[in-house]
Amino acid sequence: MIGSQTRRRRAPAPPAQGPRGSAACHDLIRTLYERAPHTTLYTPFCKIRQRLETCSFLGSTDGRHLCAALAYSRDAVEFSWAAPGRRDTLQNLLGQLAGRIGSPAFLPVLEGGSRSWARRLEMPLRDRCFRALHTGEAATGELPSDYCFRDVEPQADLSAAARLMNAAYASLPDFMTSERLEAMIASDYYFPGGWFFLIGRGERPVGLALSGYDREMDEGFIDWIELLPRQRQRGLGRMLIGECLRRLQHARWVTVAGSLDAPFVVGDLYRSCGFRQTAHWSILGTSTEERRRSSP
Ligand SMILES: CC(C)(COP(=O)(O)OP(=O)(O)OC[C@H]1O[C@@H](n2cnc3c(N)ncnc32)[C@H](O)[C@@H]1OP(=O)(O)O)[C@@H](O)C(=O)NCCC(=O)NCCS
Repeated sequence: MIGSQTRRRRAPAPPAQGPRGSAACHDLIRTLYERAPHTTLYTPFCKIRQRLETCSFLGSTDGRHLCAALAYSRDAVEFSWAAPGRRDTLQNLLGQLAGRIGSPAFLPVLEGGSRSWARRLEMPLRDRCFRALHTGEAATGELPSDYCFRDVEPQADLSAAARLMNAAYASLPDFMTSERLEAMIASDYYFPGGWFFLIGRGERPVGLALSGYDREMDEGFIDWIELLPRQRQRGLGRMLIGECLRRLQHARWVTVAGSLDAPFVVGDLYRSCGFRQTAHWSILGTSTEERRRSSP
């Protein structure tokens, strides 16, 4: 008879052991990522690759197989994973971090069902985001005849691009600078043609898309898309996404990540462009500012 009274209790999770070091962590993440990038990391692999190289790795085995693992730096957990049904083991590993890094300032966890990691780990929720994988056809429509796309010139156009981004995100005044864009161009995921303006009447840039391509994963991703406020809700956002997808046709797959705090359900926009698999992530932890305030 199988019932709650007679079911064998799972043995306590074994002490942390198994592979340590960035090479093993890199291999595990790679394998998981290629199967389902949107549920493995909250952001494209290439964006945290360098950080992972400096992480320490903690794993727990179930017999010979790894059943939970995490990668952590001085005060952040960059990656965590548990085999199905082994969340308790992951929680145990997270518990073991206490002696090593204290309470992590940053811990991304995949949201699953009604069980909330925030409650389980007693860590505050910092942010929520989505990550989606393009698997369908994009029905993005025809660009009106008085609009066109034009590539962003890496040197000449950076201040115009930064200005447009600052005008598009009213809640983030002056967050973008030419220097920040220049650093993005120097990254290994920038590719020529991945950044382009939407040009409107009078040759004026009214929208911008920044997409990236990671050679190691053969992955394309949409990094930023934005339109000036007066250009919105006429289908142009969908067209920017369609053009990104066209320019990323060579990639094995295309992903996108974004905040769930956007003023509308951005997921609907991406769904209508063929992004069919979506995962939601919670970022737990205390911000540096909060930690500074609470420290004696
Ligand atoms: C995101 C953005 C580019 C969308 O551009 P847009 O031209 O307004 O979007 P579209 O007109 O192509 O709309 C496509 C779909 O998105 C959704 N959508 C767009 N704006 C919306 C709004 N204000 N409210 C609700 N849904 C909206 C709808 O599902 C819409 O489909 P429908 O018209 O068939 O209902 C634009 O709103 C923007 O620049 N926002 C600020 C920057 C930003 O947040 N970018 C991040 C995206 S990750």
